[in-house]
Amino acid sequence: MRKPYIYGNWKMNLSAAESADLISSLLAIKIDFNKVDVGVAPDFCSLKKVAETVHAMDYPVSVAAQNISVEEKGAFTGEVSAAMVASAGADTVILGHSERRTIYGETDKVINEKVKTALRNKLDVILCVGETLEEREGGVAVERVIYQVGLCLQDIKMDRIDRVTLAYEPVWAIVTGKTATPADAEEIHGKIRDHLSKMYGPVVAKKVRILYGGSVKPDNISALMMRENIDGALVGGASLDVASFVKLINFNG
Ligand code: PGA
Repeated sequence: MRKPYIYGNWKMNLSAAESADLISSLLAIKIDFNKVDVGVAPDFCSLKKVAETVHAMDYPVSVAAQNISVEEKGAFTGEVSAAMVASAGADTVILGHSERRTIYGETDKVINEKVKTALRNKLDVILCVGETLEEREGGVAVERVIYQVGLCLQDIKMDRIDRVTLAYEPVWAIVTGKTATPADAEEIHGKIRDHLSKMYGPVVAKKVRILYGGSVKPDNISALMMRENIDGALVGGASLDVASFVKLINFNG
């Protein structure tokens, strides 16, 4: 049985003070961590404060960076390394998000290098994959997603894959208010798991969690989570409000 995982991606939305308020409000609410794993991804500037707040309360809440540099160190103005986010208290990094792919031109090859950099630096990875509207309408959604999984996980060995969580995020469903139907999402999640099984064997594939992301809200999460291969959610907008984020975390009552 895979434990549900609900992850908030705060993107570039909150000031440092707002991030601090949001994490404090969240931790003040009773969450049954036996039933669900929870994580938050603040911006770089808020990361240390959020991680310190989580660690001070000793809650098992994961804290992720939203990106890292592919490089380890050096003259790369404006970049932030894996070691830097780890030293600020992050235990995880979100990689391959469609906003990084489409707005900043990150390719599967670059994302694969970042996955390796992250794992080398002891960060867990949430690896996002997903097709565009054009690809979906062209009937190549499954093919595209499987291709991304294969390339982004190239050379990631069996002993490291347990530190990777997948997130299927159809690009056309992010921030748009459109959600894939639970059946559409389940189809892709199942195909991702089949592919992981080919790469790592069925035992490992069964353990990897595959989150769904794209306009997940309190009113649609339960139907998604009922599906066999949907193990959690990567949530943007609805994670910015403590009341709706808590509803998502407590999706099963
Ligand atoms: P959204 O974002 O929930 O606001 O659609 C999801 C994501 O980008 O991870």
